[in-house]
Amino acid sequence: MRCSRSLVSAIVALRSTSSACRTGSTSGSQALQLLLEGPLSQPPAQHRPHFHELHSRHFNQGALPQAGILQTLAHLRTTAPDPFAIVKDELETVSERLRRSVLTEVPVLSRAASYFFQLGVEGKRLRPTMLLLMASSLSSVVPSTAFLAVDESPPDQHPKECRRRQQRIAEITEMIHVASLLHDDVIDNSDSRRGLAALNTVLGNKTAILAGDFLLARASITLASLRNVEVIQLLSQVIEDLVSGEILQMTTSPDQLVSLDHYVRKTFFKTASLMANSCKAIAILGGQPVEVSKLAWDYGRNLGLAFQLVDDLLDFTGSTKSLGKPALNDLEAGLATAPVLFAAEEHPQLRPMILRKFAEPGDVQLAQQLVFDSQGLDKTRSFAAHHAQQAADVIDAFPPASTEHAQKCREGLMAITSRVLSRTK
Ligand code: FPP
Ligand code: MG
Repeated sequence: MRCSRSLVSAIVALRSTSSACRTGSTSGSQALQLLLEGPLSQPPAQHRPHFHELHSRHFNQGALPQAGILQTLAHLRTTAPDPFAIVKDELETVSERLRRSVLTEVPVLSRAASYFFQLGVEGKRLRPTMLLLMASSLSSVVPSTAFLAVDESPPDQHPKECRRRQQRIAEITEMIHVASLLHDDVIDNSDSRRGLAALNTVLGNKTAILAGDFLLARASITLASLRNVEVIQLLSQVIEDLVSGEILQMTTSPDQLVSLDHYVRKTFFKTASLMANSCKAIAILGGQPVEVSKLAWDYGRNLGLAFQLVDDLLDFTGSTKSLGKPALNDLEAGLATAPVLFAAEEHPQLRPMILRKFAEPGDVQLAQQLVFDSQGLDKTRSFAAHHAQQAADVIDAFPPASTEHAQKCREGLMAITSRVLSRTK
């Protein structure tokens, strides 16, 4: 089944030959510009294909073909395979190995590092699911049940067991992701995450930060054991990008605060880089040629951007209960995400509020009202759909699948693109 084609036809109205998105803005102070733009503008080229094409050059903000897209999504949801079910057993293997690999002789550290890996609080496990599906999508080998055993041996002792090495990428990615959340909750002074009390509120800021550091250390050890320099670079780049994204968010200049380009750039660093680079690592470990590993990177980038856009949408439309964290979190934190930036085009009175980070009494409520009274939410949904479509197109561009299982996993990757859009938590 070529799911992408039907999504393409539904979404076709989204596309425009004109580049409708706003172009980047200039930052205020030159020093700040240098600080923010300097190092980031000279990344190792081979790890940032299409970096300047991150945005949505072909996204037409004016077109909002919601009904068609949503119908197609509903169709995909009922016809496409359940991506999580395809890799269910292997996902359990990855989760179990993760639980074991964050144990240490220091009891408090073990408790802290294991906090978000406990059974039932592992989160959506979107990233490992995507990575296992990507591994099978590009493989001519159907994974054997031997790969479902939780082994303790380093991956380099199984040089031919490519699948084990790819599973390690799924584990490393989860460790880096959770490390960044532990740090993020300290920075944001958050109370809750995944329906649990945030670790910083349970064991304090210092332990939460150190637990994050510990997870990064364990991720690095596993990464080094893969003995693949390019893959080590890719996953190290993810850590740099996460930190850069967080700092970008903290130090945004006034022009950048109202810039959609800046928002997309920050979103790439904070969310999409991890998905893009880990997908590419899977392709490289699978022995894929450069063109295919670039396609894998593109899939992860687009899925990551779509995922975060929907996250920003849910911050307005979701409830604290469904999200496992407070709703309207972003406005309360002074952040103008895509719905607000789009809404500001219709309601210019949002601009001064964005610039003062919704700090005056009543700002959050008024901004919320203006967003609901605009096309901000619809445009954000369409923008997310645009990136989901780009991700689906990548799957169609893969070389022909060599097994039925590979084809099924591709359909699983397609299904993820629609689930990311229709998710409510
Ligand atoms: C969630 O953002 C946070 C991230 C996606 C990344 C945060 C990155 C750091 C804190 C840098 C340190 C990185 C490492 C690897 C230790 P959010 O606050 O917008 O979303 P939320 O609502 O889920 O908290
Ligand atoms: Mg946060």
